Amino acid sequence: MELARLQVYHNGRYVRYEDAKVGLLTHGLNYGTGCFEGIRGYWNPDHGQLYLFRLREHYERLRKSAGLLLVTLEETAAQLSAHTVELIRRNDLRQDVYVRPLVFKSAEEIGVRLHGVGYTVCIVAVPHRPYIESERGLRACVSSWRRIDDNSAPARAKLTGIYVSSALAKTDAIKNGYDEAILLTADGHVAEGSAENIFIVRDGTVITPPVTDNILEGITRSTVMQLAATELGLPVVERSIDRSELYQADEVFFTGTAVGVSPVTEVDHRPVGGGTVGKVSKALGQLYADIVLGRLSQYADWTTPCFPQPVAAPGNEAKASAQ
Ligand SMILES: Cc1ncc(COP(=O)(O)O)c(C=O)c1O
Repeated sequence: MELARLQVYHNGRYVRYEDAKVGLLTHGLNYGTGCFEGIRGYWNPDHGQLYLFRLREHYERLRKSAGLLLVTLEETAAQLSAHTVELIRRNDLRQDVYVRPLVFKSAEEIGVRLHGVGYTVCIVAVPHRPYIESERGLRACVSSWRRIDDNSAPARAKLTGIYVSSALAKTDAIKNGYDEAILLTADGHVAEGSAENIFIVRDGTVITPPVTDNILEGITRSTVMQLAATELGLPVVERSIDRSELYQADEVFFTGTAVGVSPVTEVDHRPVGGGTVGKVSKALGQLYADIVLGRLSQYADWTTPCFPQPVAAPGNEAKASAQ
């Protein structure tokens, strides 16, 4: 469907995308005073169903991000989730989707501050191309841009203004011939990718930076930590990671709503492990792909079906193991 004619949620109403306009002096546009989410929906043709992944958790994070901007959202996470499902139905999106909830200071006036500025809540759901798993994995570099520090702006919140840092790092990486950037904290520890959390595997232990190392507290990150422990039986440790551990790790992978579980097979021209996708990354990627498509009934709580009367889910169709 043409973007202009898509129905969107806008301050409690459903309107056409082309009718949800912002003015040039909009506060959030000028000062980055907004927060957002990225949510994926996966179309399962066998079930005739679209599943939204961890919808409630995304809206809970949005409400927390908004709180850091001194916005107390009237809508609960459950209400925002219901609006999202309604949007999908109104637009009859029977395909993979990307959902972009956005809250921004919408007063059209000059003046940097957070207090006393009105806000807008909107949700847009658009068709999304299916994710194609890369056989070779990603080539990443350590960026010369540092991850924003919590004392400069709260890195754990998904604030629009903070993303200029990600954009600087990502474009540098791409223009230098890499697929993705890895940002370090100001004190030189590994934080995350431009829009992904990062994990390494060393001697069978799955390691990821702690939430105090200026990372976004990723929903895929917590999903994968749980899967690595419960499904693969691996020790999962949150601790600071040195840059050179990236070079010595058996495996490195990114996690995020956009990339799922995405293996990294080269960092700064050094092959990771054998330079091919490792078995832990592969097993986690397969598990994740099955779960988001609603194929593993034990994780049904994580997936919100959008359309009524789905064909009954056949239960556990797939098994994955790191063995
Ligand atoms: C900076 C940053 N880190 C990590 C992530 C991964 O978070 P999630 O798994 O919740 O998508 C994202 C994506 O939202 C991000 O923008």
